[in-house]
Formats: sequence, C-alpha cells, structure tokens
Amino acid sequence: MAIGSPFKADILKGKVALITGGGSGIGLEISTQFGKHGAAVAIMGRRRQVLDAAVAALRQEGIRAIGLEGDVRKREDAARVLEATIKHFGRLDILVNGAAGNFLASPEDLSPNGFRTVIDIDSVGTYTMCYEALKYLKKGEPGKGPSTGGLILNISATLHYTAAWYQIHVSAAKAAVDSITRSLALEWGTDYDIRVNGIAPGPIEGTPGMRKLAPEEMKSAHYDRPLYRFGEKWDIAMAALYLASDAGKYVNGTTMVVDGGLWLSHPRHISKEEVKELSRQVEKKSRTSDVHQPSSKL
Ligand code: HXC
Repeated sequence: MAIGSPFKADILKGKVALITGGGSGIGLEISTQFGKHGAAVAIMGRRRQVLDAAVAALRQEGIRAIGLEGDVRKREDAARVLEATIKHFGRLDILVNGAAGNFLASPEDLSPNGFRTVIDIDSVGTYTMCYEALKYLKKGEPGKGPSTGGLILNISATLHYTAAWYQIHVSAAKAAVDSITRSLALEWGTDYDIRVNGIAPGPIEGTPGMRKLAPEEMKSAHYDRPLYRFGEKWDIAMAALYLASDAGKYVNGTTMVVDGGLWLSHPRHISKEEVKELSRQVEKKSRTSDVHQPSSKL
C-alpha cells in the first residue's frame, strides 16, 4: 500500500507536463502525482476512451488535465499534441516519454516487423517526442545561471542490462532509449540547459506491462524468489517527482533504477553456513600448501 508523498505539495507549481502513455499504468500515476504536486498535465495516448477516463480521474483530484489522442510513431501526431499542449496551457516544462509496446516472443517467432514495431514505439517514438518538444523546452539563454530549460524523463527498463528471455525486441528498444537519454543529456544539457534523465522500473504491480509479461496463467516458482516482489506505481512516480523537481537539479544523463535491486539478483548456489565452513577449510588448506611450496630461487 503506497504511503503519502514525502514531497511538498507545491514542488511542481506552475509547471506543465506532457506524459505519453499517461492514460494508464505508470504513466497515469506519474500524471497524478505531478498534478498533486502542482503541475498541469497533458496526457497522450492512442485510445480516446482510456484518455477520457484518466482525465476524469485526474480532474476528480482537482488536477488541471487534458487528454490528447496520438501515436508516438507518427511525427505529425507528436507535433500536433505538443502544439495542443502549448495552446491549452501556454508552456511546456516536462516531457515524460512513457509510451511503450511489449509482448513476449522468442526470436524465432518474432518477425522483423514485430521487432521494428517495438523499436518504433519505444525508441523512435521517444526520439520523435524529444525532437518535436525541443523548441518548447528550451528557455532563456544557455549557460547563463541556474537551469533555465525544461526536463525530459524517459521510462526505460533493466532487462537489457543482462539479457531477458522472449524480450529481444524490448531489450534492444530500451537500450536505445537509455542511449538517447545520455546523448541528449550531453548535447541539450550543454546547449539548452535541458536535463534529460530516465527511470528504469522493475516489475510494477497493476500495470499493463505486468499483465502482459507476468500473467496469472504464467506464475511459477521463479516469481516467488524473495527479491522478485512487485513494486508499486507510486514508487516510480516518487522517483519521477524527485528528478522533475529542484531536488534533482544537478542530475542529468542518469537512468535511475527503481526495482528494489532486483536486476542484481542471482540464485544462491551455496548456503551461508556451508560457505562459512568451506571458506575456513580452503584458507587452512592454502596456508598449509604454501608452507610446503619450495621457495623460489631468484
Ligand atoms: C509475436 C507479435 C506479437 C506476439 C504482435 N506481433 N504481437 N509477434 N508475438 N505476441 C507482431 C505482429 O505479428 C506484427 O508483425 C507486428 O508485431 C506488429 O503487430 P500489430 O498488432 O500490427 O501492431 P500494433 O497494432 O501497432 O500494436 C503494437 C503492439 C501492441 C506493441 C503489438 O501490443 C501494442 O499496441 N502495445 C501497446 C501497449 C503495451 O504493450 N503496453 C505495455 C507496455 S509495458 P508482422 O510481421 O506479423 O506484420 C512495457 C514494459 C517494458 O513496455 C519493461 C519490461 C520489463
């Protein structure tokens, strides 16, 4: 159960955020928390019904929100949605690239078009949104005083840090997203005072992604490992708030992993008791064998 926010309610006061994929899952929670902390939010998605329901829920919380239909794969949609955001709210401070596509498939069952589809949504879509948003995010004079530009936040994943079964397309797509985050942080951080960061969520309960990647029908012993516990959408939204607020003003080009350390986990091959015992024995043995080593003649 998520606790209340530890941040002050006005940390994003006066800011305007556009969140792609903001109508559901992690994107909607980021939209909600940004709104609760003072921002006006525009959410972008492909399905009108989903957007309408999300906007109604946001407004219920007293948040200034609009829903804009569009597909991040279409450059004209990206440009139109950004223009509409500016028309409605007058400015843009934060772009969150949360739109993503996913399904499980082994490489031999994944056509090049299936691979390309996910790259198009996640990687090219993220770049397209950034490219079209630049003219609104760059503000003031570069290099003059504290950060004057806006912020980009790219939602990534951890699966490409190693390799993930049935996720070759998503791994490639998210690796590209992380690379885009670093390159834009360097170039637009330097030239326009725009901070570009990412968040790599672990498995988050109640999201469309988890319903696809870990459906009930697929639950097995692997999902019961102690570290394999689900995070909450709230965990990701709090990381987003930190990065979007002044608390993160010196953070640029990083992708913050928010997964409880899951990506580091491996099965334990030997128990603590066994390792204690064995390690002492090995020490003892190596000392004894050192004594019997013939001394080297220099
Ligand atoms: C193999 C598949 C497939 C499957 C689709 N394809 N599903 N191949 N197994 N299960 C192939 C199709 O055969 C086709 O290739 C190509 O992909 C495009 O499929 P379309 O259905 O035409 O695409 P489209 O209608 O544009 O839908 C895109 C989509 C869909 C990605 C397939 O799932 C979608 O709209 N997703 C958005 C919502 C979503 O997935 N949210 C979860 C994000 S979670 P051919 O060769 O036949 O033409 C997330 C978490 C990441 O991103 C972190 C992970 C840890």
